Amino acid sequence: MKKILVIGSNGQLGLELLTALREKFGSKNVISSDISDPSHADTYFEKLDARDAISLTSIVEKHEINHVYHLAAILSANGELNPISSWEVNMKTLLNVLELGRKGVIERIFWPSSIAVFGRDTPKDHTDQNALTNPSTVYGISKLAGEKWCQYYFEKFGVDVRSIRYPGLISHKVQPGGGTTDYAIDIFSKAISGIPYNCFLNADASLPMMYIDDAVRGTLMLMEASSQNLSIRTSYNLNATSFSPAELTAEIKKYISGLQVQYKPDYRQLIAETWPRSIDDQPARSDWGWKEAYTLSQITAEMISALSMKK
Ligand code: NAD
Ligand code: SER
Repeated sequence: MKKILVIGSNGQLGLELLTALREKFGSKNVISSDISDPSHADTYFEKLDARDAISLTSIVEKHEINHVYHLAAILSANGELNPISSWEVNMKTLLNVLELGRKGVIERIFWPSSIAVFGRDTPKDHTDQNALTNPSTVYGISKLAGEKWCQYYFEKFGVDVRSIRYPGLISHKVQPGGGTTDYAIDIFSKAISGIPYNCFLNADASLPMMYIDDAVRGTLMLMEASSQNLSIRTSYNLNATSFSPAELTAEIKKYISGLQVQYKPDYRQLIAETWPRSIDDQPARSDWGWKEAYTLSQITAEMISALSMKK
């Protein structure tokens, strides 16, 4: 019987993954947790600062948890505002979870990495799984170090930890958490409200992107894959689509022709310039059968439809 803990369950990915896990395994078998209170009543929520190993252990023991989805992190743009505390959140929380794996308290761990592990020297197009990683943000450095720790715990202690390097995730249920790809969500809200959008990236800043449903489905696929099929214990590249702010604007204009976008690049443009434009994810496809479902036009249709209903 799986007993699952989701850490960072109030976040952009956390809420959607929590919903999918509860549909699959039943609400009482999936405990949510976050450093902040949830926006909706949740019987199975535990307040947790995952930097605190004692509190984490007591929640895991109380609920007899065997699988952990550890999502809590400070993302790329916010990370640059408070580098040392972001490092502490991103690394301490991961090591606390990995230690539970080493001690045999939990059996399987999911932890997300990011395209932010790549850097300015990385080839930008169809970036290979094993391409040079040379991150320049505290977020990217913490994700790269985290990947290495995951591989270390797997190889030294047999901890079954699995990971995906997500591209920018697009969704509409929760506000994004302070990343460089957040523009691709913000722009939809402004378009629906008829407000001009000031984009903090350049018009041609193309980046890898993925709709949240693909991200959730891919995560569940990886967590269900047979351990012997997994050739990568750092983190899997995962591709869906790539687009620039100008290409996204053109797509949204098919629905909302009056959308106005001005380009006012800030420090986040400098981060975007160090990341790949597109990703090669052959190992994820051959090891556990990954295939994306959502194209840019399908993502746009879903976002416009969902946000129009909310309005
Ligand atoms: P988010 O910022 O929306 O959510 C993170 C959640 O973690 C928040 O609810 C926050 O309150 C919680 N949290 C922060 N510090 C905590 C702590 N010390 N203890 C417990 N909870 C804490 O982030 P997200 O977009 O949902 O991202 C989830 C994971 O996916 C992160 O690890 C992120 O690096 C990774 N990821 C996200 C994207 C993306 O585009 N959203 C892309 C690549 C990787
Ligand atoms: N979307 C994330 C960010 O921009 C990438 O990990 O920080």
